Amino acid sequence: MSFSIDQVRADFPILSREVNGQPLVYLDSAASAQKPQAVIDAELDFYSQGNAAVHRGIHTLSAEATQLMESVRQQVAGFLNAKVPEEIVFVRGTTEGINLVANSWGRANVQAGDNIIISAMEHHANIVPWQMLCEQTGATLRVIPLNADGTLALEVFPTLIDERTRLLAITHVSNVLGTENPVREMIATAHQAGIKVLVDGAQAIMHHAVDVQALDCDFYLFSGHKIYGPTGIGVLYARDEILQDMQPWEGGGSMIATVSLTEGTTYAAAPWRFEAGTPNTAGIIGLGAALRYVGSLGLKEIGEYEQMLMRYAQQALTIVPDLTVYGPDSRLGVIAFNLGKHHAYDVGSFLDNYGIAVRTGHHCAMPLMAHYQVPAMCRASFAMYNTEEEVDRLVAGLQRIHRLLG
Ligand code: ALA
Repeated sequence: MSFSIDQVRADFPILSREVNGQPLVYLDSAASAQKPQAVIDAELDFYSQGNAAVHRGIHTLSAEATQLMESVRQQVAGFLNAKVPEEIVFVRGTTEGINLVANSWGRANVQAGDNIIISAMEHHANIVPWQMLCEQTGATLRVIPLNADGTLALEVFPTLIDERTRLLAITHVSNVLGTENPVREMIATAHQAGIKVLVDGAQAIMHHAVDVQALDCDFYLFSGHKIYGPTGIGVLYARDEILQDMQPWEGGGSMIATVSLTEGTTYAAAPWRFEAGTPNTAGIIGLGAALRYVGSLGLKEIGEYEQMLMRYAQQALTIVPDLTVYGPDSRLGVIAFNLGKHHAYDVGSFLDNYGIAVRTGHHCAMPLMAHYQVPAMCRASFAMYNTEEEVDRLVAGLQRIHRLLG
Protein backbone atom coordinates (compact mmCIF):
# COMPACT_ATOMS: atom_id res chain seq x y z
CA MET A 1 0.00 0.00 0.00
CA SER A 2 1.17 3.50 -0.68
CA PHE A 3 -0.02 5.20 2.46
CA SER A 4 0.94 4.50 6.02
CA ILE A 5 -1.92 2.97 7.99
CA ASP A 6 -0.20 3.98 11.25
CA GLN A 7 -0.02 7.58 10.10
CA VAL A 8 -3.64 7.51 8.91
CA ARG A 9 -4.79 6.13 12.26
CA ALA A 10 -2.75 8.74 14.12
CA ASP A 11 -4.64 11.43 12.20
CA PHE A 12 -7.95 10.31 13.77
CA PRO A 13 -7.89 11.13 17.49
CA ILE A 14 -11.00 9.10 18.36
CA LEU A 15 -9.37 5.86 17.21
CA SER A 16 -7.11 5.85 20.26
CA ARG A 17 -9.95 5.82 22.79
CA GLU A 18 -11.23 2.79 24.65
CA VAL A 19 -14.81 1.57 24.75
CA ASN A 20 -15.95 -0.73 27.56
CA GLY A 21 -12.35 -1.16 28.65
CA GLN A 22 -11.14 -2.29 25.21
CA PRO A 23 -9.40 -0.42 22.41
CA LEU A 24 -12.15 0.83 20.10
CA VAL A 25 -12.72 -1.12 16.89
CA TYR A 26 -14.85 1.25 14.84
CA LEU A 27 -16.66 -0.68 12.12
CA ASP A 28 -19.56 1.73 11.58
CA SER A 29 -18.10 4.21 9.11
CA ALA A 30 -20.89 3.59 6.59
CA ALA A 31 -23.24 5.19 9.14
CA SER A 32 -20.79 7.98 9.96
CA ALA A 33 -17.05 8.06 9.39
CA GLN A 34 -14.62 9.41 11.98
CA LYS A 35 -12.90 12.76 11.48
CA PRO A 36 -9.20 13.45 11.00
CA GLN A 37 -7.59 16.21 13.05
CA ALA A 38 -7.42 18.36 9.90
CA VAL A 39 -11.23 18.49 9.74
CA ILE A 40 -11.58 19.17 13.46
CA ASP A 41 -8.97 21.94 13.19
CA ALA A 42 -10.67 23.51 10.17
CA GLU A 43 -13.92 23.90 12.10
CA LEU A 44 -12.09 25.08 15.21
CA ASP A 45 -10.11 27.66 13.20
CA PHE A 46 -13.25 28.96 11.59
CA TYR A 47 -15.03 29.43 14.91
CA SER A 48 -11.95 30.84 16.65
CA GLN A 49 -10.70 33.13 13.88
CA GLY A 50 -13.13 33.46 11.01
CA ASN A 51 -16.75 33.17 12.10
CA ALA A 52 -19.23 35.49 10.36
CA ALA A 53 -22.40 35.23 8.29
CA VAL A 54 -21.71 34.67 4.61
CA HIS A 55 -23.21 36.70 1.75
CA ARG A 56 -24.41 39.26 4.28
CA GLY A 57 -21.84 41.92 4.94
CA ILE A 58 -19.09 44.06 3.57
CA HIS A 59 -16.97 43.64 6.67
CA THR A 60 -13.77 41.64 6.41
CA LEU A 61 -14.87 38.56 8.36
CA SER A 62 -18.04 38.18 6.30
CA ALA A 63 -16.13 38.60 3.05
CA GLU A 64 -13.52 36.07 4.14
CA ALA A 65 -16.16 33.53 5.21
CA THR A 66 -17.99 33.99 1.90
CA GLN A 67 -14.77 33.54 -0.04
CA LEU A 68 -13.96 30.37 1.92
CA MET A 69 -17.41 28.91 1.36
CA GLU A 70 -17.35 29.63 -2.36
CA SER A 71 -13.85 28.21 -2.66
CA VAL A 72 -15.16 24.92 -1.22
CA ARG A 73 -17.92 24.97 -3.84
CA GLN A 74 -15.19 25.14 -6.48
CA GLN A 75 -13.27 22.39 -4.70
CA VAL A 76 -16.34 20.10 -4.63
CA ALA A 77 -16.98 20.81 -8.32
CA GLY A 78 -13.41 19.71 -9.04
CA PHE A 79 -13.78 16.65 -6.82
CA LEU A 80 -16.87 15.50 -8.77
CA ASN A 81 -15.62 16.83 -12.11
CA ALA A 82 -18.72 19.03 -12.44
CA LYS A 83 -18.62 21.43 -15.39
CA VAL A 84 -19.04 24.54 -13.23
CA PRO A 85 -19.19 25.29 -9.47
CA GLU A 86 -22.75 26.57 -9.97
CA GLU A 87 -23.82 22.92 -10.31
CA ILE A 88 -23.01 22.37 -6.62
CA VAL A 89 -25.71 23.04 -3.99
CA PHE A 90 -24.83 22.79 -0.31
CA VAL A 91 -27.45 20.83 1.62
CA ARG A 92 -27.57 19.18 5.04
CA GLY A 93 -26.86 15.75 3.58
CA THR A 94 -27.97 13.23 1.01
CA THR A 95 -31.44 13.05 2.54
CA GLU A 96 -32.08 16.78 2.27
CA GLY A 97 -30.68 16.82 -1.26
CA ILE A 98 -33.06 14.11 -2.45
CA ASN A 99 -35.97 15.92 -0.79
CA LEU A 100 -34.89 19.10 -2.58
CA VAL A 101 -34.98 17.35 -5.96
CA ALA A 102 -38.33 15.70 -5.16
CA ASN A 103 -39.92 18.95 -4.05
CA SER A 104 -38.45 21.24 -6.66
CA TRP A 105 -37.77 19.26 -9.84
CA GLY A 106 -40.30 16.57 -8.92
CA ARG A 107 -43.30 18.81 -8.36
CA ALA A 108 -42.63 20.63 -11.63
CA ASN A 109 -42.03 17.54 -13.75
CA VAL A 110 -44.03 14.66 -12.28
CA GLN A 111 -47.78 14.44 -12.76
CA ALA A 112 -50.66 12.04 -12.17
CA GLY A 113 -50.12 8.94 -14.29
CA ASP A 114 -46.33 9.35 -14.42
CA ASN A 115 -43.97 6.90 -12.75
CA ILE A 116 -40.60 6.94 -11.02
CA ILE A 117 -38.26 3.94 -10.93
CA ILE A 118 -36.26 3.06 -7.83
CA SER A 119 -34.80 -0.27 -6.67
CA ALA A 120 -35.47 -2.70 -3.84
CA MET A 121 -32.06 -1.96 -2.30
CA GLU A 122 -32.59 1.77 -1.66
CA HIS A 123 -32.27 3.21 1.81
CA HIS A 124 -35.23 5.17 3.08
CA ALA A 125 -33.84 8.52 1.92
CA ASN A 126 -34.21 7.35 -1.68
CA ILE A 127 -37.65 5.82 -1.16
CA VAL A 128 -39.73 8.02 1.12
CA PRO A 129 -39.32 11.37 -0.73
CA TRP A 130 -40.52 9.65 -3.93
CA GLN A 131 -43.44 8.01 -2.12
CA MET A 132 -44.41 11.43 -0.78
CA LEU A 133 -44.12 12.95 -4.26
CA CYS A 134 -46.29 10.14 -5.66
CA GLU A 135 -48.92 10.75 -2.97
CA GLN A 136 -48.93 14.46 -3.80
CA THR A 137 -49.06 14.07 -7.57
CA GLY A 138 -50.80 10.76 -8.30
CA ALA A 139 -47.66 9.28 -9.84
CA THR A 140 -46.56 5.71 -9.03
CA LEU A 141 -43.32 4.05 -7.96
CA ARG A 142 -41.85 1.14 -9.89
CA VAL A 143 -39.22 -1.01 -8.24
CA ILE A 144 -36.30 -2.89 -9.81
CA PRO A 145 -36.20 -6.21 -7.90
CA LEU A 146 -33.11 -8.00 -6.62
CA ASN A 147 -31.51 -11.27 -7.62
CA ALA A 148 -30.88 -13.83 -4.89
CA ASP A 149 -27.24 -12.70 -4.59
CA GLY A 150 -28.17 -9.10 -3.80
CA THR A 151 -27.48 -7.63 -7.22
CA LEU A 152 -30.12 -5.76 -9.23
CA ALA A 153 -32.29 -7.77 -11.62
CA LEU A 154 -30.99 -5.59 -14.44
CA GLU A 155 -32.99 -7.36 -17.15
CA VAL A 156 -36.18 -6.12 -15.45
CA PHE A 157 -35.11 -2.47 -15.46
CA PRO A 158 -35.86 -1.70 -19.17
CA THR A 159 -39.23 -3.46 -18.88
CA LEU A 160 -40.29 -0.95 -16.19
CA ILE A 161 -39.70 2.02 -18.49
CA ASP A 162 -42.58 3.46 -20.47
CA GLU A 163 -43.49 6.84 -21.95
CA ARG A 164 -44.69 8.05 -18.53
CA THR A 165 -41.41 7.29 -16.70
CA ARG A 166 -39.91 10.55 -15.48
CA LEU A 167 -37.01 9.55 -13.25
CA LEU A 168 -34.68 6.75 -12.26
CA ALA A 169 -33.50 7.27 -8.65
CA ILE A 170 -30.86 4.69 -7.86
CA THR A 171 -28.19 4.12 -5.27
CA HIS A 172 -24.61 3.92 -6.52
CA VAL A 173 -23.67 1.44 -3.76
CA SER A 174 -26.04 -0.38 -1.38
CA ASN A 175 -25.59 0.68 2.25
CA VAL A 176 -26.46 -2.87 3.39
CA LEU A 177 -25.09 -5.23 0.75
CA GLY A 178 -22.21 -3.19 -0.62
CA THR A 179 -23.43 -3.95 -4.14
CA GLU A 180 -22.07 -1.44 -6.65
CA ASN A 181 -24.69 -0.86 -9.31
CA PRO A 182 -23.73 -0.34 -12.97
CA VAL A 183 -25.06 3.20 -12.86
CA ARG A 184 -23.26 4.38 -15.98
CA GLU A 185 -25.02 1.77 -18.14
CA MET A 186 -28.34 2.37 -16.37
CA ILE A 187 -28.03 6.11 -16.96
CA ALA A 188 -27.38 5.50 -20.67
CA THR A 189 -30.48 3.28 -20.89
CA ALA A 190 -32.60 5.86 -19.06
CA HIS A 191 -31.34 8.76 -21.17
CA GLN A 192 -32.14 6.90 -24.40
CA ALA A 193 -35.72 6.93 -23.18
CA GLY A 194 -35.53 10.61 -22.18
CA ILE A 195 -35.58 9.85 -18.44
CA LYS A 196 -33.63 11.86 -15.88
CA VAL A 197 -31.40 10.00 -13.41
CA LEU A 198 -30.59 10.74 -9.78
CA VAL A 199 -27.71 8.79 -8.24
CA ASP A 200 -27.50 8.48 -4.45
CA GLY A 201 -23.78 8.45 -3.84
CA ALA A 202 -23.85 8.32 -0.03
CA GLN A 203 -22.07 4.95 0.10
CA ALA A 204 -19.85 5.37 -2.96
CA ILE A 205 -18.19 8.75 -2.54
CA MET A 206 -15.61 7.64 0.07
CA HIS A 207 -14.50 4.51 -1.75
CA HIS A 208 -13.57 5.67 -5.25
CA ALA A 209 -13.51 8.69 -7.51
CA VAL A 210 -16.83 9.87 -8.92
CA ASP A 211 -16.94 11.76 -12.21
CA VAL A 212 -20.40 13.16 -12.81
CA GLN A 213 -19.62 14.05 -16.43
CA ALA A 214 -18.37 10.54 -17.19
CA LEU A 215 -21.42 9.06 -15.47
CA ASP A 216 -23.61 11.59 -17.30
CA CYS A 217 -26.03 11.64 -14.35
CA ASP A 218 -28.49 14.49 -13.86
CA PHE A 219 -28.31 14.57 -10.05
CA TYR A 220 -25.70 13.14 -7.69
CA LEU A 221 -25.73 13.31 -3.90
CA PHE A 222 -23.40 12.68 -1.03
CA SER A 223 -23.06 13.48 2.66
CA GLY A 224 -19.96 15.08 4.15
CA HIS A 225 -19.91 12.97 7.30
CA LYS A 226 -19.44 9.73 5.38
CA ILE A 227 -16.31 11.05 3.70
CA TYR A 228 -14.59 12.02 6.95
CA GLY A 229 -16.18 15.49 7.00
CA PRO A 230 -18.60 17.11 9.44
CA THR A 231 -22.20 16.10 10.01
CA GLY A 232 -24.94 18.40 8.75
CA ILE A 233 -23.34 19.18 5.41
CA GLY A 234 -23.77 17.47 2.07
CA VAL A 235 -23.78 18.10 -1.63
CA LEU A 236 -26.35 18.02 -4.38
CA TYR A 237 -24.81 18.06 -7.83
CA ALA A 238 -27.36 18.94 -10.49
CA ARG A 239 -26.67 19.37 -14.18
CA ASP A 240 -26.53 23.09 -14.92
CA GLU A 241 -29.35 23.18 -17.50
CA ILE A 242 -31.66 21.38 -15.08
CA LEU A 243 -30.75 23.39 -11.99
CA GLN A 244 -31.21 26.70 -13.82
CA ASP A 245 -34.82 25.68 -14.56
CA MET A 246 -35.64 24.49 -11.05
CA GLN A 247 -37.68 26.62 -8.69
CA PRO A 248 -36.67 27.09 -5.05
CA TRP A 249 -37.93 24.69 -2.45
CA GLU A 250 -37.28 26.69 0.72
CA GLY A 251 -37.75 30.43 0.91
CA GLY A 252 -35.85 32.91 3.07
CA GLY A 253 -32.78 35.07 3.18
CA SER A 254 -29.86 34.58 0.79
CA MET A 255 -32.00 32.90 -1.89
CA ILE A 256 -33.65 36.07 -3.16
CA ALA A 257 -32.81 38.83 -5.65
CA THR A 258 -35.53 41.27 -4.55
CA VAL A 259 -38.39 41.10 -2.04
CA SER A 260 -41.34 43.48 -2.14
CA LEU A 261 -44.52 43.31 -0.14
CA THR A 262 -46.43 44.60 -3.15
CA GLU A 263 -44.51 43.18 -6.10
CA GLY A 264 -43.55 39.80 -4.64
CA THR A 265 -40.12 38.17 -4.70
CA THR A 266 -37.59 37.41 -7.37
CA TYR A 267 -35.02 34.73 -6.75
CA ALA A 268 -31.24 34.57 -6.83
CA ALA A 269 -29.47 32.52 -9.47
CA ALA A 270 -28.76 28.83 -8.93
CA PRO A 271 -27.27 27.39 -6.79
CA TRP A 272 -27.83 30.15 -4.23
CA ARG A 273 -31.61 30.13 -4.63
CA PHE A 274 -31.55 26.64 -3.13
CA GLU A 275 -29.57 27.72 -0.06
CA ALA A 276 -32.06 29.72 2.01
CA GLY A 277 -30.91 31.03 5.37
CA THR A 278 -27.49 31.04 6.98
CA PRO A 279 -25.65 27.95 5.79
CA ASN A 280 -23.54 25.53 7.80
CA THR A 281 -20.42 27.49 6.96
CA ALA A 282 -18.18 25.65 9.43
CA GLY A 283 -19.46 22.38 7.99
CA ILE A 284 -18.69 23.52 4.46
CA ILE A 285 -15.17 24.51 5.48
CA GLY A 286 -14.77 21.18 7.31
CA LEU A 287 -15.95 19.37 4.18
CA GLY A 288 -13.29 21.20 2.20
CA ALA A 289 -10.68 20.01 4.71
CA ALA A 290 -12.00 16.42 4.47
CA LEU A 291 -11.74 16.42 0.67
CA ARG A 292 -8.20 17.83 0.92
CA TYR A 293 -7.30 15.10 3.39
CA VAL A 294 -8.71 12.35 1.18
CA GLY A 295 -7.01 13.92 -1.82
CA SER A 296 -3.66 13.97 -0.02
CA LEU A 297 -3.85 10.19 0.44
CA GLY A 298 -5.44 9.53 -2.95
CA LEU A 299 -8.85 7.92 -3.44
CA LYS A 300 -7.26 5.28 -5.65
CA GLU A 301 -4.84 4.28 -2.87
CA ILE A 302 -7.64 4.39 -0.29
CA GLY A 303 -9.84 2.22 -2.49
CA GLU A 304 -7.09 -0.33 -3.06
CA TYR A 305 -6.36 -0.57 0.65
CA GLU A 306 -10.06 -0.96 1.47
CA GLN A 307 -10.49 -3.67 -1.16
CA MET A 308 -7.55 -5.57 0.30
CA LEU A 309 -9.10 -5.28 3.76
CA MET A 310 -12.49 -6.38 2.43
CA ARG A 311 -11.02 -9.51 0.87
CA TYR A 312 -9.25 -10.26 4.14
CA ALA A 313 -12.49 -9.79 6.11
CA GLN A 314 -14.56 -11.94 3.73
CA GLN A 315 -12.05 -14.75 4.08
CA ALA A 316 -11.59 -14.33 7.85
CA LEU A 317 -15.34 -14.41 8.54
CA THR A 318 -15.71 -17.81 6.88
CA ILE A 319 -14.48 -19.50 10.08
CA VAL A 320 -17.36 -18.13 12.18
CA PRO A 321 -19.97 -20.90 12.59
CA ASP A 322 -23.60 -20.16 11.64
CA LEU A 323 -22.79 -16.82 10.06
CA THR A 324 -25.06 -15.70 7.22
CA VAL A 325 -23.50 -12.99 5.07
CA TYR A 326 -25.86 -11.03 2.80
CA GLY A 327 -25.04 -9.67 -0.63
CA PRO A 328 -22.65 -10.42 -3.50
CA ASP A 329 -18.99 -11.41 -3.13
CA SER A 330 -17.95 -8.29 -4.97
CA ARG A 331 -18.82 -5.48 -2.59
CA LEU A 332 -17.75 -2.06 -1.41
CA GLY A 333 -17.31 -1.04 2.19
CA VAL A 334 -19.85 -3.13 4.09
CA ILE A 335 -20.55 -6.69 5.21
CA ALA A 336 -24.03 -7.35 6.59
CA PHE A 337 -24.59 -10.58 8.50
CA ASN A 338 -26.58 -12.46 11.09
CA LEU A 339 -25.25 -15.00 13.57
CA GLY A 340 -27.47 -18.07 13.80
CA LYS A 341 -30.99 -17.07 14.79
CA HIS A 342 -29.80 -14.44 17.23
CA HIS A 343 -31.26 -10.99 16.88
CA ALA A 344 -28.82 -8.46 15.47
CA TYR A 345 -29.30 -6.26 18.57
CA ASP A 346 -28.07 -9.06 20.84
CA VAL A 347 -25.03 -9.72 18.67
CA GLY A 348 -24.32 -5.99 18.35
CA SER A 349 -24.59 -5.53 22.13
CA PHE A 350 -22.09 -8.31 22.80
CA LEU A 351 -19.71 -6.86 20.23
CA ASP A 352 -20.05 -3.46 21.87
CA ASN A 353 -19.03 -5.05 25.17
CA TYR A 354 -15.85 -6.14 23.42
CA GLY A 355 -15.26 -2.57 22.20
CA ILE A 356 -16.42 -3.31 18.63
CA ALA A 357 -18.88 -0.87 17.04
CA VAL A 358 -21.10 -2.27 14.27
CA ARG A 359 -24.47 -1.05 13.11
CA THR A 360 -27.50 -3.19 13.96
CA GLY A 361 -31.13 -2.96 12.87
CA HIS A 362 -32.88 -2.40 9.56
CA HIS A 363 -30.21 0.00 8.28
CA CYS A 364 -32.86 2.44 7.03
CA ALA A 365 -33.64 -0.18 4.39
CA MET A 366 -36.77 -1.99 5.58
CA PRO A 367 -37.75 -3.19 2.07
CA LEU A 368 -34.36 -4.89 1.82
CA MET A 369 -34.92 -6.59 5.19
CA ALA A 370 -38.29 -7.78 3.84
CA HIS A 371 -36.53 -9.16 0.74
CA TYR A 372 -34.28 -11.30 2.97
CA GLN A 373 -37.16 -11.98 5.40
CA VAL A 374 -35.22 -10.84 8.45
CA PRO A 375 -36.13 -8.04 10.88
CA ALA A 376 -32.57 -6.85 11.23
CA MET A 377 -28.93 -7.47 10.38
CA CYS A 378 -25.55 -6.56 11.84
CA ARG A 379 -23.32 -4.56 9.53
CA ALA A 380 -19.57 -4.12 9.76
CA SER A 381 -18.31 -1.31 7.57
CA PHE A 382 -14.71 -0.60 6.69
CA ALA A 383 -12.90 2.64 6.12
CA MET A 384 -9.35 3.59 5.26
CA TYR A 385 -8.31 3.55 8.94
CA ASN A 386 -9.38 -0.03 9.71
CA THR A 387 -6.86 -2.85 9.97
CA GLU A 388 -6.58 -6.62 9.65
CA GLU A 389 -6.12 -6.79 13.44
CA GLU A 390 -9.52 -5.14 13.83
CA VAL A 391 -11.06 -7.69 11.48
CA ASP A 392 -9.48 -10.41 13.65
CA ARG A 393 -11.08 -8.82 16.75
CA LEU A 394 -14.47 -8.92 14.99
CA VAL A 395 -14.03 -12.57 14.05
CA ALA A 396 -12.88 -13.50 17.58
CA GLY A 397 -15.82 -11.57 19.04
CA LEU A 398 -18.33 -13.40 16.84
CA GLN A 399 -16.76 -16.78 17.68
CA ARG A 400 -17.03 -15.93 21.38
CA ILE A 401 -20.68 -14.93 21.03
CA HIS A 402 -21.36 -18.18 19.19
CA ARG A 403 -19.75 -20.15 22.03
CA LEU A 404 -21.78 -18.21 24.61
CA LEU A 405 -25.16 -18.21 22.88
CA GLY A 406 -24.88 -21.27 20.73
N1 ALA B 1 -27.49 5.22 5.31
C1 ALA B 1 -26.87 5.25 6.59
C2 ALA B 1 -26.36 3.91 7.01
O1 ALA B 1 -26.31 3.05 6.19
C3 ALA B 1 -27.78 5.82 7.57
O2 ALA B 1 -26.00 3.70 8.14
